[in-house]
Order: sequence, then structure tokens, then C-alpha cells
Amino acid sequence: MKGTFPIHKFRELRTPFYYYDTKVLRDTLSCIRTEAARYGNYSVHYAVKANANPKVLAIIRENGLGADCVSGGEIRAAIKAGFPTGKIVFAGVGKADWEINLGLDYDIFCFNVESVPELEIINELAAAKGKVANVAFRINPNVGAHTHANITTGLAENKFGISMQDMDHVIDIAQNMKNLRFIGLHFHIGSQILDMGDFVALCNRVNELQEARHIRIEHVNVGGGLGIDYGHPNRQPIPDFKSYFETYNSHLKLRPHQTLHFELGRAVVGQCGSLISQVLYVKQGTNKQFAILDAGMTDLIRPALYQAFHKIENITSDAPVQAYDVVGPICESSDVFGKAIDLNGVKRGDLIALRSAGAYGEIMASGYNCRELPQGYTSDELV
Ligand code: LLP
Repeated sequence: MKGTFPIHKFRELRTPFYYYDTKVLRDTLSCIRTEAARYGNYSVHYAVKANANPKVLAIIRENGLGADCVSGGEIRAAIKAGFPTGKIVFAGVGKADWEINLGLDYDIFCFNVESVPELEIINELAAAKGKVANVAFRINPNVGAHTHANITTGLAENKFGISMQDMDHVIDIAQNMKNLRFIGLHFHIGSQILDMGDFVALCNRVNELQEARHIRIEHVNVGGGLGIDYGHPNRQPIPDFKSYFETYNSHLKLRPHQTLHFELGRAVVGQCGSLISQVLYVKQGTNKQFAILDAGMTDLIRPALYQAFHKIENITSDAPVQAYDVVGPICESSDVFGKAIDLNGVKRGDLIALRSAGAYGEIMASGYNCRELPQGYTSDELV
């Protein structure tokens, strides 16, 4: 089964470009809202790093999510899209002074702090402005996630967070700083997680920490990480948010008056986006044939960087299926989207969709080889 696309509209646009199906995005957001609302004290933030296209951000903001930012640029993008500053959380191991100042100026909800030196600087910069900054500590829970090594973050060997052993000490330090208010703990174990058991492991660790140390906090933030079905974007366009929130509800022992925060990126935007590209040439190799696209790793780097799978469809052909190596035009041998991919017979000018590319697609595009960045269009614009 292939996705449905407004092909005649696509023909008017310069390829490659990103296409966002707003029905899929809105249905996904509505599912998140319904499933999270069952629990009253759940607050969902969108991880802006996954996709900061202004049209996509506007739809997410309309649906009431907060914003999880990891840079001053993302804070600006979120504010520009209308996210309330009181719903912005700011994470990252290396926040520059100007970025901290920006967060302070806008009175963002919380800084997720990853080290003692960072804590000291936030306190100092807040003091200079006569403000008190809300801070949560990102704790490295030493919980592994069954996902790609480059996108697991919660193990002791990663650069992220404060170790569990240091936690008490860091809390003491923070409590003696006049311009900080310690309000919560933050965790994130990795991305593209489909095994709910990984989230159960995180819940167990959070319970242990809360029980052992009798910490008094109002906010627990469990990060993001829920994965999507890259193999079947048409069959399963909406991730299983029901099981996801249920898992936290059954395993995490929240105290009365605590709010549980989530920072979902991929699961919100992944399935609504496709990279649309045109076939430049079909080239015969010795034992194979290549479909050479006008999109390359500069437009979608995930296959080259993480050996990630994206379903590839020839959306303008019903010819009998043949196998192709689908490659881009960049001068790098890793510029390959897929090998021996079954596609309806390909000819020059056919349009190829690389599916499930709404998350970490357009936002990770680069200008390598002096290429232009791909544009992003929504289905709302192409009617
Ligand atoms: N919160 C924190 C602290 C994070 O580091 C991340 C992602 C998220 C939330 C959102 O995670 P998500 O719900 O999207 O899994 N470029 C990679 C993914 C990098 C994820 C980085 N952190 C990829 O293309 O797979």
C-alpha cells in the first residue's frame, strides 16, 4: 500500500521538498491530547529539535502543547510560533550565556540543568537580572534503551545529565543558591523506543530515587523517546500513545500534586512528513540498477548517519516492481537511501516519496556541496 499525495500540485514545485500531511499531524495531536488528558496531571511538550518548520510548529501550538527547546534559536522559534513562554523548558549540556539570558528574559518555565558549573552560571546570570530561575536536574538514570547506539542517551557513559550518585550533593548546592528554585527532576533515555519495557525501567528508577531520597519536587519530566513504525507509515500513522501514557500511569509512583512532563518529538511529527524527490537518472550497474534522485543526504541524513530505514515509494508509477539501489547526487559513497529496494518501475521524472521523514528530516538538512536547503509545504497549502 502506498500513501496518497497531491501529485498534480507536486509537479508545480521544485524538488526536493518536504511535504507535511496536516491531517495526519492533527489526528496525531488529537490522540495525544485525548490519551494524556485521561490522567489530569500530565503535561506534554513538543521537542522542537524534531522539526521547527513554522507551519508545523503553529499547528502543534494550536493543540496546546508546551515546547522543549535545546538552544536559543529553538526558544526564539517556539516564541515566534506563539508557544506561551511559561510552557517552555530549556535543556542541553552546553547552554551559552546569551541563551541562558534569553530564557531568563522570557521567564521560561524551567531550565533543565546538566552540571554544577552550569548551575552556577544560571544563578549568577539570574542574580544580575534580579530574577529567580526555575531549575530541574537532568539525572542520568543509567537505563539503556534498545535503540541505535547514536541515539541512546541515558547510560552512564553518555555526556548527558548528572549521575545518580551526585544528585543529593547537587540538590544541596542548588538549595543554597538564592537565585534558583529547584522544582524537579528530568530524565531522557533515548529515542525511537518501541519497547514499553524501556519506559518501565525508567519508571522504576525514578521511583527508587524518589523513595530513597525523600526529595520534595513538584515536577517530574521523563523526556521523550516514543518511536514510530518506519516500516508501515500507512498502516500505523499514529503511534501507540494509549500504551505509552498507560505505561507511565501504571508504573510511575507520582506523589500527590506532582505533574508529569513529557518531551515528545519524533512521535508527534515523524509520520506526517515525506521527502519528495524526482528521479534524475536510472543507471544500469554490473549486477544492479540505480535510481538516482535529486534528493541526497543533505536533505535527509538519517540513512547515512544512523543506517535508518525510510520506506521509499514511487508515487507516479504502477509499472511492475523491480529492485533498485536508491541514491542521491552527493559526492559521498554513504549518500544512499536504500539498497535493493522494490519500487514500481522507475523512469526519469518519476516522483519518489521517502516516508516517515517529518522528524529529524528538514531540520537536519545541510548546505553541503553548496546545495539549497529543501523547502517544506503543508497539505493545507497545496489544495
Ligand atoms: N528530550 C530530550 C532531552 C532529548 O534529548 C530528545 C531527543 C527528546 C526529548 C525528543 O526525543 P524523541 O521523542 O524525538 O525521541 N536525530 C536523531 C534523534 C536525536 C534525538 C535527540 N534527543 C534521529 O534522527 O533519529
